[in-house]
Amino acid sequence: MTMHTRNLGTTGSQVSALGLGCMGMSGMYGAADRAESIATIHAALDAGITLLDTGDFYGMGHNELLINEALRTAPAGLRDNAVVSVKFGALRDPDGSWYGFDGRPAAVKNFAAYSLQRLGVDHIDIYRPSRLDPDVPIEETVGAVAELVEKGYVRHIGLSEVGADTIRRAAATAPIADLQIEYALVTRGPEREILPTLRELGIGVTAYGVLSRGLISGHYTADQQFDADDFRAHSPRFQGDNYRRNLALVDALRKIADEKGVTVAQTAIAWVLSRGDDIVPLIGARTRARLTESLGALDITLDQADLDAIEAAVPAEAVAGERYAPAQMAMLDSER
Ligand SMILES: NC(=O)c1ccc[n+]([C@@H]2O[C@H](COP(=O)([O-])OP(=O)(O)OC[C@H]3O[C@@H](n4cnc5c(N)ncnc54)[C@H](OP(=O)(O)O)[C@@H]3O)[C@@H](O)[C@H]2O)c1
Repeated sequence: MTMHTRNLGTTGSQVSALGLGCMGMSGMYGAADRAESIATIHAALDAGITLLDTGDFYGMGHNELLINEALRTAPAGLRDNAVVSVKFGALRDPDGSWYGFDGRPAAVKNFAAYSLQRLGVDHIDIYRPSRLDPDVPIEETVGAVAELVEKGYVRHIGLSEVGADTIRRAAATAPIADLQIEYALVTRGPEREILPTLRELGIGVTAYGVLSRGLISGHYTADQQFDADDFRAHSPRFQGDNYRRNLALVDALRKIADEKGVTVAQTAIAWVLSRGDDIVPLIGARTRARLTESLGALDITLDQADLDAIEAAVPAEAVAGERYAPAQMAMLDSER
């Protein structure tokens, strides 16, 4: 496995070509094992992954505390290379339910103060609003993060799930390193307007959901059961007929993967890696086994014949079901 680096935009950091998304280690996909989560972060750092992605609302602080522990217990050389990307703004009830977003400048500073403590660091490498707060102009939210940059509490500013107009307004306010957005073989929306806008402005991409929450990992069968607190139990793509149709796409992809002697997940990750050097896929592994499999994608070269075969097996609009349930889709500025 060869770890390369990529730049997060023209103004951001140089990071590993794959990042580790830590969300699944804090309950979003059902229970996770704490010791295995920390071992997975250590294994990722050891393999040369430098980018760790989190959100202050992943397990209501649980994920940041987990990263704190993982970094504290990692060898110094590896810990020092880590680039931690933090999302803020999502509001949660003690029962875990979600109730909107807060992008007001005063809230941004408050969120950052708590994240710095939970992470045990004196600065956050990349700081981004998780969603656009519809009641607060993006200039105000990004302006508040820019103030944190001036004071040394944040190094770089990122965005998440916003559309082209908001990206332009944000970039006119302060330098933006990257946009975090769902992008995968089965999630091609960003290709229409968002990716061209980012490229015009020199903004990088951290791509999440590259396996569509595991849907195109090749590991799940038609009778798969997800716990009620697992995102996938409510995701339209995992329901009934949609799920059956989507697994047929996975079977078509598996034929190509088998011919190349690689796995379905590796093919799906390699496809995102092939979309441009400005894109850093986030791997949602929460075990060392899944991480090791994902890292194998780095050594796969997809030539034009492979890409054509993949496109024929999984055409751009073939997926059944939206990527979020309707209430969550409505919160995505990127889908307007
Ligand atoms: N900005 C945003 O709005 C946003 C939204 C969501 C996520 N994110 C970030 O993006 C990161 C990754 O996103 P995601 O969780 O949606 O990623 P994903 O890679 O599409 O899905 C990850 C899930 O797929 C399953 N999986 C099966 N095979 C795998 C393999 N070989 N490697 C990795 N996972 C495998 C795992 O679940 P099992 O272990 O159950 O099989 C894992 O939890 C998150 O951790 C988070 O940091 C950002």
